[in-house]
Amino acid sequence: MSPLRSGKMDSLPSEASALFLLLLIVTAQEASGRTAQEGGSHHRHRNPPSPQPGAGPEPGDLAAAFTVPTLDGKFSYEPGALKESLIIHAFTNKSGFLECLWSSEVSLSSLVEGLPDSSQVLVLSQDDSAVTDVLWMREQLHRVAMRSRKEVLARVHFCPLPVFALGNWIPGVLYFWGCVGRNCGLSQAVFTSDGWKMPIVVKRLDARYDWLMERWSSNSSRLVGAGDGCEPSASVGGAVAWVSEGNCSFFTKVQSMAKSNASGVLVYSLPGNPLQDMNCVGDECNVPLRIPAAMVHMEVSVAQALQSGQKVNISFQATPSPNFFFSIDQQGALAEMGWFLYPSFSFFNWQAQWFEFSAGLQLKLQSPAEVVCVFDEVRMQGDRGAVAAVTLPSEWWNFDTLELDASLSCPGRRDTSCAQWDHTVQLFVCCDPLSPYCDTELGRWITAFRRGTGHWLTDVSPLMPLLDRNKCTFTMKTVPWAMPWIVSLKLRFSVNNQTDYGVEKLRPFRVMSLYSGGTFDKNYNKRYSPVKFPVPPPTKKVELYAVITGHGSDENSCGEFCVTSHHFLINSVFNNTHVFDSAGSPLGCTMLVKDGAVPNEHGTWLYGRGGWCDGLQVNPWRVDVTKQLNVSGFESNTVIYFGLFNGSDPNPAQEPGYIIMSSFLVFYK
Ligand SMILES: *[C@@H]1O[C@H](CO)[C@@H](O)[C@H](O)[C@H]1NC(C)=O
Ligand SMILES: *[C@@H]1O[C@H](CO)[C@@H](O)[C@H](O)[C@H]1NC(C)=O
Ligand SMILES: *[C@@H]1O[C@H](CO)[C@@H](O)[C@H](O)[C@H]1NC(C)=O
Ligand SMILES: *[C@@H]1O[C@H](CO)[C@@H](O)[C@H](O)[C@H]1NC(C)=O
Ligand SMILES: *[C@@H]1O[C@H](CO)[C@@H](O)[C@H](O)[C@H]1NC(C)=O
Ligand SMILES: *[C@@H]1O[C@H](CO)[C@@H](O)[C@H](O)[C@H]1NC(C)=O
Ligand SMILES: *[C@@H]1O[C@H](CO)[C@@H](O)[C@H](O)[C@H]1NC(C)=O
Ligand SMILES: *[C@@H]1O[C@H](CO)[C@@H](O)[C@H](O)[C@H]1NC(C)=O
Ligand SMILES: *[C@@H]1O[C@H](CO)[C@@H](O)[C@H](O)[C@H]1NC(C)=O
Repeated sequence: MSPLRSGKMDSLPSEASALFLLLLIVTAQEASGRTAQEGGSHHRHRNPPSPQPGAGPEPGDLAAAFTVPTLDGKFSYEPGALKESLIIHAFTNKSGFLECLWSSEVSLSSLVEGLPDSSQVLVLSQDDSAVTDVLWMREQLHRVAMRSRKEVLARVHFCPLPVFALGNWIPGVLYFWGCVGRNCGLSQAVFTSDGWKMPIVVKRLDARYDWLMERWSSNSSRLVGAGDGCEPSASVGGAVAWVSEGNCSFFTKVQSMAKSNASGVLVYSLPGNPLQDMNCVGDECNVPLRIPAAMVHMEVSVAQALQSGQKVNISFQATPSPNFFFSIDQQGALAEMGWFLYPSFSFFNWQAQWFEFSAGLQLKLQSPAEVVCVFDEVRMQGDRGAVAAVTLPSEWWNFDTLELDASLSCPGRRDTSCAQWDHTVQLFVCCDPLSPYCDTELGRWITAFRRGTGHWLTDVSPLMPLLDRNKCTFTMKTVPWAMPWIVSLKLRFSVNNQTDYGVEKLRPFRVMSLYSGGTFDKNYNKRYSPVKFPVPPPTKKVELYAVITGHGSDENSCGEFCVTSHHFLINSVFNNTHVFDSAGSPLGCTMLVKDGAVPNEHGTWLYGRGGWCDGLQVNPWRVDVTKQLNVSGFESNTVIYFGLFNGSDPNPAQEPGYIIMSSFLVFYK
């Protein structure tokens, strides 16, 4: 049974009938007396409770039941059934960002085409104009959905009752969960002029985050008209340029105003047009423009004042507002939605895809396994990181599968308590201190930039020979200067006979460590020399296993954002190649959200990277190389590694990047 029910009534064509319906429903509405505080329990998190008891439910708490009126009848949420996720969105037309979210065709299309089947959306409005607002939003969505995927309309519910009148627990979450950072709160432009009694305050939408990084000064500046801004203008030096949309691209306007030494650019939309997400296109994006820009609606009194030669000043401000979004996952737990870097419903889709991944992971974790807990919500910080000694299950060598069940959460319940930046986390294992295997890397992850939901299952079965004694010490750490993470790690030993039909599954019995990475400069490949090795009997299969990530940034953005290739040449003939071809692509890491990459992080988590993504495990690269080797007898084989940028040795002119690598040959019998 679905936890989300939507009672259908005849759909309502006009605002008047919606108002009428609203009156009926308000009187009939069941008040949801049960709050999440009473009904909910800590779900996934067992971190300390909120510092403000009574302030309402926190992320991770179970969502309580509620019913709200909708344009089509009513919408009920009931906890318990574990099937679909729900995104709750509270619109306000006082936000330029939300106006654009609901007007941009690209944004609306992404909701229509990309909202996962397992997700529903409840749309609310924060304002007195709720009825008009939701009718307008439904109209926007209908227009786009009619052209492609009508089915989605049944999963988006519009509530005409304003948030402040809901009377259930939802307003508490919207008002008290932090609404901080990009595109949250109300970004505004403030016009003043000697002729006016009051300032004119309007909503603004700043240009796309990664196009124009410059911030508005909070100081008051002169505002000077410059027509359509397509040509440089001598009069805007030191002032904010007031230019109309149209006649040339946003890029051309901003560039010509920057050339004219304007201190900023305010583009106004032509009457009747919505605010747009100002961005560069194609090669334009390679031209740095060091000037802030924003879009506002045409303001008649401003235009008139400028025309009549009155002085007009402009300043910029941000006013806090309730949160715009939160969600409920498949397990019924409340969740934050992270940062929306630009006005697009893709951020809904990514959050919902991640909920789907997370629900799938919960299922996988229910499959039978011998579980060894290494870290149970342990604080990982500093040089030492997190360290634990554990005893392996008896006869652990009889299992053929070893998976790492790892998660990284934050010291508090909210994402604001999470560590910044995307740092490498490595897990090292040492069982026999005298063994060459001691302190070998068993797993690698990258932290999610200020989001505490990451949870991953990584198959490291080929490295089972590293466990060469039944007591092992595990060390998990990131850079010592990083803010703390709360880590959990379980080893899952299991038997998985499905891969080799009827044949007894081969087991790894030995690993041979090959190469590690280093500074990605012109000497990178000179450090490596061929390794000669016999294949030890009774080997039946040999596998190449490598964990490689690129970091840092030279003038070609190597190794994080450049396409590098990694080669293991066996017996001078077999060129085993791994290319990080999505590195630097604008949406490379969004493709991996369905595989567990944490979405809607702070920072530029969306870009593809050199072998990794923010908030994801680093997947081992595995190649069966048995056929490339002389297996019989004691004949020698060779292997050599090299790493290339653009098909040749790296040759950076400035501060080089670096490669972190663990690589092995794994012998199976
Ligand atoms: C939202 O605001 C803009 C201007 O600020 C206005 O043109 C538009 O009609 C408003 N939309 C709704 C649904 O009220
Ligand atoms: C803002 O004004 C103050 C005081 O006039 C000045 O010190 C400061 O440099 C100005 N800041 C910017 C970014 O222009
Ligand atoms: C208007 O801006 C100018 C230039 O930044 C500044 O000198 C002036 O004080 C401002 N006037 C008002 C009324 O804010
Ligand atoms: C756009 O260009 C046309 C033709 O040059 C001009 O008449 C019009 O005023 C321009 N638009 C604006 C808003 O400046
Ligand atoms: C902008 O400033 C630079 C350096 O001060 C000056 O050389 C240039 O002429 C100015 N451009 C305009 C259009 O005022
Ligand atoms: C896996 O295969 C081995 C050898 O064929 C067999 O003894 C064992 O029972 C199998 N385990 C499972 C779970 O099927
Ligand atoms: C080992 O294998 C390679 C590739 O299959 C082959 O070219 C080479 O001749 C073999 N060496 C010996 C000594 O058999
Ligand atoms: C990549 O290689 C091509 C051809 O060898 C060369 O033209 C190009 O400049 C190189 N690109 C970079 C970024 O080095
Ligand atoms: C291996 O392949 C890469 C690209 O696919 C190529 O640049 C390199 O020269 C090859 N190396 C050898 C030794 O074949």
